[in-house]
Amino acid sequence: MTFTAFDRIPRDCLPALLRAMPKAELHMHVEGSLEPELIFRLAQRNGVALAYPSVEALRAAYAFTDLQSFLDIYYAGASVLLKEEDFFDLAWAYLQRAAADNVLHAEIFFDPQTHTARGVPIETVIKGLDHACRRAHQELRISAKLILCFLRHLSEDEALATLEAALPYRHHFIGVGLDSSERGHPPEKFVRVFDRARAAGLHVVAHAGEEGPPEYIRSALDMLEVERIDHGVRSIEDPALMARLAREGIPLTVCPLSNVRLCVYKTMAEHQLPALLAAGLKATVNSDDPAYFGGYINQNFVETFAALPQLGAREAYVLARNSFEASFADDAAKAGWIAQLDEAFAAAAQ
Ligand code: ADE
Ligand code: ZN
Repeated sequence: MTFTAFDRIPRDCLPALLRAMPKAELHMHVEGSLEPELIFRLAQRNGVALAYPSVEALRAAYAFTDLQSFLDIYYAGASVLLKEEDFFDLAWAYLQRAAADNVLHAEIFFDPQTHTARGVPIETVIKGLDHACRRAHQELRISAKLILCFLRHLSEDEALATLEAALPYRHHFIGVGLDSSERGHPPEKFVRVFDRARAAGLHVVAHAGEEGPPEYIRSALDMLEVERIDHGVRSIEDPALMARLAREGIPLTVCPLSNVRLCVYKTMAEHQLPALLAAGLKATVNSDDPAYFGGYINQNFVETFAALPQLGAREAYVLARNSFEASFADDAAKAGWIAQLDEAFAAAAQ
């Protein structure tokens, strides 16, 4: 660790520091950044009928009881995305918000099967998103990469077909992930498609231990050979697994507001992020589906730290540093971002 003067940063400076500190976002589903206002705008532009009469009525429906109750609304919202420019508008809106939150690097999930199932060509999806990433790099100075996620409630054969259809656009995405309904769809269902992705030189990550048991985290590591675990909060139930995650330095992309909105924890005060950090796990903070869960990455940081007094300036630094170290960027980029992080903390300690 480079910066060490954490006791020179007063607690009342924390919210401003959390917002200002440079950070990476590693767990954000671009379809989950589709704000109700954009849903209505795209529905009108594309002539798609919506089940809700207004933005307010749609927002009022965002009261979730578990992951599935959210996914049902999330997939319905994505039905307005049809053309390349729709995917561009979606990702561009997210990247502007991320840049405003001092995100220097974003690894963005997308769910092609949500769109190809409605007849949208995978090329349309990838080209629209890629265009936004390239423009963001030029105009917002934010580094943005794409990770293609397979929907785990569908079959492995469908995931394999999706990967084959995406491989001609291989240069537009850096990895694959696994998302959607976790319970009853263990990682081992997707061994062949992850083997194929790794053989194609892609990075591999998977959602595990969000609602599913710690055993799913083990099988994501052992059978899919993932480099990061998305969520992974249920590792707290299994001390041997926690010790392994710490020993092997496996990053967890934790999403605190998501966990509270999807009732993994009743309140933020019960969130286990402090215990994960205290056990030496390489945890990061991310927004998951910011349009649905009450905020983007800075909102996650600020609300989490406000509810958990165990989290102070040291943990803020560790989380931001972890986000860069856990990213799939090259070592030179990581070193440059961490130098900027050190500068931000040094300025706060003045
Ligand atoms: N897709 C979008 N958000 C998700 C989440 N939190 N878990 C699983 N799949 C998702
Ligand atoms: Zn997620």
